[in-house]
Amino acid sequence: MSTYADQRVLVVGGTSGVGLATARTFAGRGADTVIVSRSVDKLDAALAQLTTSGGKASGRTLDIRSDDEVEQFAATAGAFDHVVVTAGETPMGRVDTLPLTEAYAAMDSKFWGAYRIARAVRVKPSGSLTLVAGHLSQRPGRASALQSAINAALEALVRGMALEYAPLRVNAVSPGLLRTPLWEGLDDADRERMYEAAVRRLPVGRVGDAADVAEAVIFVAGNAYTTGTTVYVDGGGTIA
Ligand SMILES: NC(=O)c1ccc[n+]([C@@H]2O[C@H](COP(=O)([O-])OP(=O)(O)OC[C@H]3O[C@@H](n4cnc5c(N)ncnc54)[C@H](OP(=O)(O)O)[C@@H]3O)[C@@H](O)[C@H]2O)c1
Repeated sequence: MSTYADQRVLVVGGTSGVGLATARTFAGRGADTVIVSRSVDKLDAALAQLTTSGGKASGRTLDIRSDDEVEQFAATAGAFDHVVVTAGETPMGRVDTLPLTEAYAAMDSKFWGAYRIARAVRVKPSGSLTLVAGHLSQRPGRASALQSAINAALEALVRGMALEYAPLRVNAVSPGLLRTPLWEGLDDADRERMYEAAVRRLPVGRVGDAADVAEAVIFVAGNAYTTGTTVYVDGGGTIA
């Protein structure tokens, strides 16, 4: 099991879901873990969890949609050994019905947000940068062409950055459907119907959780021979 003692890790989106599970794993393995997201309440709650279990963790508010905020953060945050970006908001909707403003906002949040972090935050050449995308890049749904395009763009971005930023290793992890707070906005019954349908369809017979994806992030961050690739953690959703 890799140890991250004396290493600095940044998890952008580390207050919830995949980001929080990833921060918990890094902090549990000794990393000095910094989490960022927009909400002070989410930061306080996440830091309480991380430090109660004995981890070394701190946090700052940051909105990755803002060029200035990201640049100011990067200018004062120092260098990290590993950076993970899980943040992003992308509303579902068909191309012909989703308002163009919402489509632009989705790209600005998940694609340009990750791009802003990748261009500004300093990562040590011996370390890694990991972007969390999504398996819709490979398997579009009936109202998710935009998410497919954003995730595919992120997966392409890591392949290019792995060359540009070498020897820094750059990878993506693309989840399928997960039980995370991302879906809290849905009506409870609708959410359960969505999960039940996934359980019937997926070869693994269950819906994933944030810890499943955190394991993959830890793998690509820790494996010195892995760069420019995407790991799909989707219960077989891409082939089902
Ligand atoms: N859950 C799934 O089923 C699923 C499936 C495929 C792909 N994914 C992808 O996996 C990633 C993580 O999803 P999740 O399920 O962990 O979501 P989540 O539980 O909703 O967590 C998202 C995190 O990102 C932060 N965030 C959102 N917008 C931000 C912004 N503009 N600036 C800074 N922080 C921001 C949120 O905190 P604040 O609100 O405080 O900013 C939160 O900490 C996302 O890219 C998602 O698209 C998820």
